[in-house]
Amino acid sequence: MYQPSETRYDTMKYRRCGRSGVLLPLLSLGLWHNFGDITPFQTQQALLRTAFDHGITHFDLANNYGPPDGAAETNFGRHMDTDWRPHRDELFLSTKAGYGMWKGPYGDWGSRKYLIASLDQSLKRMHVDYVDVFYHHRPDPNTPIEETMGALDQIVRSGKALYVGISNYGPEQARAAIRELRRLGTPCLIHQPRYSMLDRWIEDGLTDVLREEQVGCIVFQPLAGGLLTGKYLDGIPEDSRMKRDSRFLKPGAQTDEMAEKIRGLKEIAEARGQKLQHLALQWVLRDEGITSALIGASRPEQILDNLEVLNAPELTGEELEKIDRILGKK
Ligand SMILES: NC(=O)c1ccc[n+]([C@@H]2O[C@H](COP(=O)([O-])OP(=O)(O)OC[C@H]3O[C@@H](n4cnc5c(N)ncnc54)[C@H](OP(=O)(O)O)[C@@H]3O)[C@@H](O)[C@H]2O)c1
Repeated sequence: MYQPSETRYDTMKYRRCGRSGVLLPLLSLGLWHNFGDITPFQTQQALLRTAFDHGITHFDLANNYGPPDGAAETNFGRHMDTDWRPHRDELFLSTKAGYGMWKGPYGDWGSRKYLIASLDQSLKRMHVDYVDVFYHHRPDPNTPIEETMGALDQIVRSGKALYVGISNYGPEQARAAIRELRRLGTPCLIHQPRYSMLDRWIEDGLTDVLREEQVGCIVFQPLAGGLLTGKYLDGIPEDSRMKRDSRFLKPGAQTDEMAEKIRGLKEIAEARGQKLQHLALQWVLRDEGITSALIGASRPEQILDNLEVLNAPELTGEELEKIDRILGKK
């Protein structure tokens, strides 16, 4: 039987998620890759245990994580049975709906019909009675925001989720959703956008909205799927995502221009005595408004490695300016 480490809360740091009672670890673990049916159960188990043993209390899922769609939740349900049921109250679990999940007009986007049916399916697959956060995964241009947010409110009131969030919403869409949820009496806990040194779109308005509205922010793909480890600078390693499972990280994703930026960033990291991945994680977390960085991992050692970010010396103003110059921001 799994016995979590006694020291699991000794080193992790936690940040408050917006204006809420929830604290999230600086690093959270996403189950988008490496939890489908192409990854051995034991590897998945080692990833989850390693994370939790070091204070990573938050695991992030979605209805469509796999492959195939739904498999990450089904596999997580098995992990729930073998390892996690006795520790459920120490875990913060999320899932989402918003992308195509089943055939026909009711298995996609943002209707009340889709969101409620999808969460019911997710709970069955995950072998849990409720999730801690349920997200609308992407904005739906054709469904009134009142309907989508009304579904999230109904979900919280029915006890199937404790909190709700939104993902991939732009600044004004986010503001409208947050205000509608507040009007309904179910505050929006968190937004989940993509953010890394290679994709800074949230700086153009979204972070201001979240600060003003006092909503938390967990950023996904802080390592740009692995590009910001520098592992693709000399070709495509055999044991990498681009080789093993390139559904969302195609060969060619790293352009020459990007490779030059990554080399420049790696030099800055090395001058600080760091690895590039630690600089990349520290950089997304440099603002207290970012509650958590949502990482993926294919091996437990990567989680241990990424935890080094907790010991990193602060970034100086000069270093931040250098980074901006490399990234073409200044
Ligand atoms: N809301 C949304 O729309 C959305 C979209 C995408 C993702 N997400 C969430 O974000 C999570 C993270 O996404 P992601 O996995 O793409 O994030 P990521 O952290 O940018 O990339 C993770 C990948 O980088 C490599 N890696 C990580 N640490 C490493 C290390 N120390 N050394 C070497 N390689 C390392 C591993 O790939 P390999 O070892 O396989 O090369 C790992 O699977 C997802 O699981 C999901 O929960 C949400």
